[in-house]
Amino acid sequence: MSAGGFVDTNPHARVAGAAPFAVELEAGKSVWLCRCGHSADGIFCDGSHNKINESLPEAEHITPLEFTPEESKTYYVCACKRTGKLETTMMCDGSHAKKEVLKMYNQQLLKANSKLAAEKDELAKRVAELERQMAGL
Ligand code: FES
Repeated sequence: MSAGGFVDTNPHARVAGAAPFAVELEAGKSVWLCRCGHSADGIFCDGSHNKINESLPEAEHITPLEFTPEESKTYYVCACKRTGKLETTMMCDGSHAKKEVLKMYNQQLLKANSKLAAEKDELAKRVAELERQMAGL
């Protein structure tokens, strides 16, 4: 997808955060970094990509990246999943600050808010129904 020169290099991935995740990693200890953005913490793969891949052609499947730190220190793992280092380290390259990525993140948040609002309305209806039933007892 292209808009004003922006090419989404990971179009099926969820933006997991508005800024990189600071993570302490140990030298030589491999980790599997999430590239789909759907893992619970947005950092480490928890298998959530399998659910995303069910609806994608095999050529577009998203897989985690194995990363072995060369030194023990704080690493800044990409949260937007659009870093130019998708295939190498998954570390932040500043892509989260691009307006197209911010727009994607805002759209995700709006969608999540709408879903929560709908759930809240549904719960309020159920509570009101239960209160009516209890009043009739
Ligand atoms: S959960 Fe995101 S790549 Fe596995």
